Amino acid sequence: MKALILAGGFGTRLRPLSCTRPKILFPIVNKPLLQWTLERLAGNKIKEAILAVNYQSEVFLKRYRISKCGVNITYSRDPLKKPLGTGGPIKRAEKLIGYDAPFLVLNGDIFADVNYTELLNMHEEKNAAATIALHRVEDPSRYGVAELTKQNRIKRFVEKPSREAAPTNLINAGVYVLSPKIFGYIPKGRTVSLEREVFPKLVEEGKLYGYVFDGLWMDVGKLEDYLKINKILLDLLANQSKYKIEEAKVKKTVAFDRGVSIGKESVIGPYAVLGRNVTVGKNVHIKNSVIFPGTVISDFASINGAVIGENVVIGKRVKIDEECVLGDHVKIKDNVSLAQGVSICPAKKVSESVLTPKCII
Ligand code: GDD
Ligand code: MG
Repeated sequence: MKALILAGGFGTRLRPLSCTRPKILFPIVNKPLLQWTLERLAGNKIKEAILAVNYQSEVFLKRYRISKCGVNITYSRDPLKKPLGTGGPIKRAEKLIGYDAPFLVLNGDIFADVNYTELLNMHEEKNAAATIALHRVEDPSRYGVAELTKQNRIKRFVEKPSREAAPTNLINAGVYVLSPKIFGYIPKGRTVSLEREVFPKLVEEGKLYGYVFDGLWMDVGKLEDYLKINKILLDLLANQSKYKIEEAKVKKTVAFDRGVSIGKESVIGPYAVLGRNVTVGKNVHIKNSVIFPGTVISDFASINGAVIGENVVIGKRVKIDEECVLGDHVKIKDNVSLAQGVSICPAKKVSESVLTPKCII
């Protein structure tokens, strides 16, 4: 089975970090999301992946060195300055995908522990045009929502309903098996929403099915969820990791990439991910946060519940509160405090405290 990965979106809710990398390249416990996905494909014996990109995401993807895990990757490009949505890129990759077998489509911005083989089996058993992996969540209003019959046929599909209008809490996990006949349902050369245009039509014709799974699933697009998936995976991976940091205190669970150094009497964790070559001074406190590669954190700084971009420089005694997001190459001068919910655009220098939640451009 071939896989098409939708990788055109940059995402607005993780700004300003998503200004300088597509969501598919966000590190999750020090590994880009795309790599987690490729490993899962390889684990399900899927060896062919097509990345549906736009100009911008292609540039970033090609610059990044990702281990391909034995998966052969080809690119399918959206036309310049013309986003194709979630359906258009599937139509555009029609020839690359071919017509002889069902194929897998993945939203690139989600972490989903789905058994692709079981999904395919249901698809074939039901002779469906499309089979969607469905996951139960508490608040379905940010997602596509499905209502199932006992035979797993989807009798209603609503994209992003209000919370009151959502028929169930079974949501579209962004993982599908599609039959080549789907190409006949997607108009060529324009933006097409799979969820708003194609799925409702398949519902009418009784050709849309749902496969419910309850493994790990997370949309990484929101800061809170991004920190949460890092946390969950830190705990899952905890038994495999052993850290020996002299003189600093490490509270479970944490992950350090290569080249991390930590000064005396610093307390790291619980829940801290430090990327490659992150340098931490003395008496620093970091918890519930993700620090991207190359960042320097000076003595007596404290960071709690934040995401810090690449090559950021954080001065002495700086205090960074929950829900702060710092873009790449930001510099924070000594003694500055950032209150809850402050975000700072890439390469910005901050020399005064910011005491209310806002975005510093
Ligand atoms: N190539 C390309 N071109 N990819 C695109 C484009 C485009 O124009 N637009 C979106 N994508 C990709 C995004 O990168 C993402 O991986 C995927 O398509 C879904 O688009 P989002 O913009 O992230 O959609 P969403 O998160 O609001 O909703 C979708 O995902 C939910 C699960 O996270 C829908 O499929 C929902 O029904 C679903 O529940
Ligand atoms: Mg999304």
